[in-house]
Amino acid sequence: MSNSTKIGKVYLVGGGPGDPELLTMKAHRILGSADAVVYDRLISDAVLDIVPAGATRIFVGKKTSNHTMAQEEISALLVSMATSGRTVVRLKGGDPYVFGRGSEEAIELVRAKIPFEVIPGITAAAGAAASIGVPLTHRGMANGVRFVTGHCRSDIPLDMNWKSLADPNTTLVVYMGLANVGEITAQLMHAGLDCHTPVVAVSRATTSEQQTCRATLTTLVEKLNTEKLKSPVLIIIGEVAGLADIIGSEMISLGGSDDDEDIQSVASA
Ligand SMILES: C[S@@+](CC[C@H](N)C(=O)[O-])C[C@H]1O[C@@H](n2cnc3c(N)ncnc32)[C@H](O)[C@@H]1O
Repeated sequence: MSNSTKIGKVYLVGGGPGDPELLTMKAHRILGSADAVVYDRLISDAVLDIVPAGATRIFVGKKTSNHTMAQEEISALLVSMATSGRTVVRLKGGDPYVFGRGSEEAIELVRAKIPFEVIPGITAAAGAAASIGVPLTHRGMANGVRFVTGHCRSDIPLDMNWKSLADPNTTLVVYMGLANVGEITAQLMHAGLDCHTPVVAVSRATTSEQQTCRATLTTLVEKLNTEKLKSPVLIIIGEVAGLADIIGSEMISLGGSDDDEDIQSVASA
């Protein structure tokens, strides 16, 4: 870098769960003026369409055990692009700080003294819950909500405090839980959560491919085996999941959705 090159800036941007209209206005503006965009697997084409035609696009998508680029390489890439004076958007699905490893990149940017900003996004739990008519909390039913990951590094078994997670008054939202759904449901029941507790799994929430699978803790594995939801899938466990029958179905009949077909899958699940 020559002495006169001004250091650029990195924006860690939340791309939301898929529907481009769920982007924040700030994310939309910054995406529309980026020099370069480094994006992962969960970013929809509709969101990428906002990026200027002349901007550099770098896919660094990650899939379990099939990482396109290691996390350290992604962080190093952001540092080097910003050092060469570019405005770089690191575009992540949902919110960068909810199971998005945004903080790991932020730490590397701090170390390299690169200016950066975090633009929050709608996390999958909020997007999925809204689109299927399931509130994450509800007075008298769920006085709290927990977001947990249902996946650990491939060489590490799931290590969760099942007793504390098996709380009937708290909604449990499991990200990345599809591969371990059998173990998760069995452990929660073993820890005392009622086997009739309602569960809803949502695939590709807020997109035109959204699908849902409604079940209970006991029936979830079998239903998922039959319905074969496509990833990404989010699992919402708790009494609130039962409200999909009331709120989700009524949203359709009241015409409250922009795209009724998206929500039909809830009613028919
Ligand atoms: C690595 S985490 C990223 C979470 C993201 N940062 C967020 O805030 O939503 C990936 C997991 O998020 C969930 N997920 C993300 N987008 C989703 C969507 N549109 N529909 C369902 N689940 C989604 C799935 O559980 C997926 O396995």
